Amino acid sequence: MAQEVRGVIAPGKNEPVRVETIVVPDPGPGEAVVRVQACGVCHTDLHYKQGGINDEFPFLLGHEAAGVVESVGEGVTDVAPGDFVILNWRAVCGKCRACLRGRPWYCFDTHNARQKMTLTDGTELSPALGIGAFAEKTLVAAGQCTKVDPAVSPAVAGLLGCGVMAGIGAAINTGGVGRGDSVAVIGCGGVGDAAIAGAYLAGAAKVIAVDIDDRKLETARTMGATHTVNSKDTDPVEAIRELTGGFGADVVIEAVGRPETYRQAFYARDLAGTVVLVGVPTPEMKLELPLLDVFGRGGSLKSSWYGDCLPSRDFPMLIDLHLQGRLPLDKFVTETIRLDEVEKAFERMHHGDVLRSVVVL
Ligand code: APR
Ligand code: ZN
Ligand code: ZN
Repeated sequence: MAQEVRGVIAPGKNEPVRVETIVVPDPGPGEAVVRVQACGVCHTDLHYKQGGINDEFPFLLGHEAAGVVESVGEGVTDVAPGDFVILNWRAVCGKCRACLRGRPWYCFDTHNARQKMTLTDGTELSPALGIGAFAEKTLVAAGQCTKVDPAVSPAVAGLLGCGVMAGIGAAINTGGVGRGDSVAVIGCGGVGDAAIAGAYLAGAAKVIAVDIDDRKLETARTMGATHTVNSKDTDPVEAIRELTGGFGADVVIEAVGRPETYRQAFYARDLAGTVVLVGVPTPEMKLELPLLDVFGRGGSLKSSWYGDCLPSRDFPMLIDLHLQGRLPLDKFVTETIRLDEVEKAFERMHHGDVLRSVVVL
């Protein structure tokens, strides 16, 4: 039987979000209903509310979540009721050209639930990133549920579902940071800090944090940054070169999503180094670079979607490392809030004084 629960809806472009009753159908074939325990507030939720992703209002927001599987539909064997899971937005299909070539982290046909959650009047909801987890319960494709060690706190675990995974993965998966590398991270919000933690975990010898806000640089140090540069008063390219014997970093991660910071990343890397773009640009942004520099400096220029993660491989491993005290995921939770405080959390996001606000249910 379908159930009625509370969830946070973005009703229309730039309208304040509100808590509404939503109807969650029973899981159909290949689907699961999850009792959400925690869900982080991400920039993408705000972009949905602002109409920046698409016009398919009303949205059911929230997508960085952890919870317990309540029920599963026909044919579901990988998860069972009672399993503690992190929700992912990369339930790989196993059949597309990326999956068939053995590169499922690029899957081009990821799964979401087929059935729709609705308002009580039958209006269909668009769940953010196919998840919609600012809700007491949500319906997803079973492949979107990744089992992890239940010893971790849900508020911490949920963060791996999006932004923190994007940052860690930008360093260890996309950037391929390894022992002894020098790494610079431009932009030290939640995503950049996660890239710093990832680089530290991977054994980087030097991790240089760059931001225009000293408070962010202080936090970056606690995540594993060995050096900090405030690029408001210092040229970050010069500073990174100075800190790396005059050459530049092996891997530079851009976690802002702007042309000027991308340019800094491009010139702050060593010859044959790697640039990883994990910050998300807006449609009107343009980048101009001398093509000769692109050619002459060699190396690779990559972008990182969801940290090129494979949830089934990365989530349990990173939770285990966290539980062993090797990855400070708990430091990303700045505050825990209630379901009806999401709008306030969006405002705090603007002021830049939170890494993550996490709704706890
Ligand atoms: N140079 C350096 N740092 C900058 C600059 C700049 N010109 N402009 C902004 N920053 C810093 C901010 O001070 C802040 O610390 O970048 C950081 C951005 O952090 P958040 O706003 O918290 O964003 P975050 O969640 O980390 O996401 C960063 O990645 O996933 C994408 O959409 C996301 O584009 C966004 C980016
Ligand atoms: Zn696929
Ligand atoms: Zn997100």
